[in-house]
Amino acid sequence: MNPGVAEQWRELDRPSRVGKSDLLSRPGVFAWDRVDPGSRLLSEHLPADLQGDAADLGAGYGYLSAQLLRRCPGLRAVDLYEADQRALDLARQNLGEVAGAAALDFYWHDVCAGLPKKYDCIVSNPPFHAHTGEDRPDLGRTFLRQAGIALRPGGRLLLVANRHLPYEATLSKGFSKVRQMAQAQGFKVIEAIRGAGDV
Ligand SMILES: C[S@@+](CC[C@H](N)C(=O)[O-])C[C@H]1O[C@@H](n2cnc3c(N)ncnc32)[C@H](O)[C@@H]1O
Repeated sequence: MNPGVAEQWRELDRPSRVGKSDLLSRPGVFAWDRVDPGSRLLSEHLPADLQGDAADLGAGYGYLSAQLLRRCPGLRAVDLYEADQRALDLARQNLGEVAGAAALDFYWHDVCAGLPKKYDCIVSNPPFHAHTGEDRPDLGRTFLRQAGIALRPGGRLLLVANRHLPYEATLSKGFSKVRQMAQAQGFKVIEAIRGAGDV
């Protein structure tokens, strides 16, 4: 290959700041050049009293985890799960500075295969598209089921989804309390709480 063209490609792929934030992302990663509006809406509704061990399912370059760490000082640990290794590498770089006292762990992992640990709270903007572009609500539903299994009794799932995605039936099976916290710009933010006998 022409070395000039190769260098141009490398340059285009170089990590850069997301908008005015301190976070780094790069082409190919979900919402790489902007904060996803759904994730921003969820971050604005994260309860400040989330405590204990948290997980971020489909963590991307780490935006939601960074917001969790900033807004919820009672968290002991945050585990990030992501199938895209390039996104997870960026999340590692991005979260170094905001971790504070919380322990961080990064899992290159298929969430649909289940989670290896139990959690007090889980956040997610679940994937809902195939690479070819069509809706894959089954993927999001599997994320929600796995979140229900991984939460301790009383544990809280905070999620954001496009308003039209049919997640309510899945949530009503795996969680005792489900409430919509917000709706804006075509997104809904939902809190689901796991009861003692759920799942
Ligand atoms: C809607 S994006 C949200 C990304 C990030 N949380 C944010 O707010 O910018 C969903 C993420 O899930 C990841 N993902 C898709 N399928 C996955 C799977 N089976 N296991 C883990 N992560 C997955 C995608 O790579 C993508 O980063």
